[in-house]
Amino acid sequence: MKTKLLIFGITGDLSTRKLLPALEQIISTGNFNELSVIGVSRHEVNQSELFVNCSNESFLDGKLSTYIMNLDASGDYYGLKDFVALGDDEQLLIYMAVPPLATAQIVDYLGEAGLNAHNVKILFEKPFGVDLVSAKKLIEQTARHYREEQIYRIDHYLAKEMAQNIVAFRDKNALFSDVWNNNFIESIQVIASQKMGIEGRTHFYEQTGALRDVVQGHMMQLLALTLMDIPHDFEWDNMPELRQQAFNQLQPVDPNKAIRAQYEGYKDEVGNLDSKVETFVSLSIESGQPRWLGVPITLTAGKSLAETKTEIQINLKKNDGVSGNCLVFRIQPNEGIDIELFVKKPGYSRELETRHLSFNYPADTKLPDAYEQVIVDAISSQKSLFTSSGEVLRTWQILQPVQDSWNSSNNNPKTYPVGADISVVLG
Ligand code: BG6
Repeated sequence: MKTKLLIFGITGDLSTRKLLPALEQIISTGNFNELSVIGVSRHEVNQSELFVNCSNESFLDGKLSTYIMNLDASGDYYGLKDFVALGDDEQLLIYMAVPPLATAQIVDYLGEAGLNAHNVKILFEKPFGVDLVSAKKLIEQTARHYREEQIYRIDHYLAKEMAQNIVAFRDKNALFSDVWNNNFIESIQVIASQKMGIEGRTHFYEQTGALRDVVQGHMMQLLALTLMDIPHDFEWDNMPELRQQAFNQLQPVDPNKAIRAQYEGYKDEVGNLDSKVETFVSLSIESGQPRWLGVPITLTAGKSLAETKTEIQINLKKNDGVSGNCLVFRIQPNEGIDIELFVKKPGYSRELETRHLSFNYPADTKLPDAYEQVIVDAISSQKSLFTSSGEVLRTWQILQPVQDSWNSSNNNPKTYPVGADISVVLG
């Protein structure tokens, strides 16, 4: 079907860093020749700046048009509708690549202008709202103009190759499927550590902070894929419902078990010397599901740290009181799976040592970027890797006590030097 992709925020960081390079890949497959892009911006667009992260500036030649408008002027949306000129045999994907607080008003204006016909889909970037109340409002407001099947809430972590692999691995390897419970698993850690800082996204980051930016969505979703029941017959369409059930069992986080920190120099970088926005967060969380009772779970995420790595560590119980195996899903970089094994050290002594059994993709494997998968799935109406409204509300609810506590506290986050190790920040 002929598809028009309308991007709000075409000149922004998300669009230039992720969406346009993903589109370049998708178009290069030759399977999406009927895809065209309309970029919406407040200002004149310098087209060559759009493609700084693409390998070829001309891949959208003849397929890209831009529309300059005032996002706050409801009247401009009627002009946008005329510009889009959507035919009955076409579909329109509206991609909201704008900061969370700008979203609600744009949705209203789009709806009022009639950019919500049955062949229109609306794609939201996370975070959906900034807390439980605003998420609820955004969901209700969107529902006034769009039916649930038209709404695609993106969490690109769900679309990462290794994230999709978690459920496949758990289901299809009997070695692990039978030990996936609190009889055998001691603790679970989800870690998303980044060397990079906020990369100039001052406006966005001051509205979000690490909790809203990556914990409420990306990390909670990785956790859901680890804890959830496996879909019967591996039916992917049931995934959102099963992730939601896993979230329903998670207890709201005790603020006393949450650590927030900010890297040194952040305040100057954003030009707000009073900023309490956290660039690092670590939370302990518990599931009430019988299968996971008593298993400590931690989620840790931060920017400007020593290392860039996202992984899930599953620590198995010690069977002799001394040794316990660790299974690691390496979400990125170096996507793969590691199992830490205890083996006898070669030689005359009876000593043990730890070795890794690793699954790595062959060097020439091209793993699709998550945003390629997101766009392809939205075009073809596959919703299993998108977040339902129920998941969004429940994840905010789980984090609300922490947000409330941080909002009402006069305490500043603790600080850490740029390039610090996670263990140093945790102190
Ligand atoms: C985005 C966050 O959603 O995810 C960024 O806004 C973060 O702050 C990014 O850096 C991480 O995504 P990826 O795919 O680069 O790990």
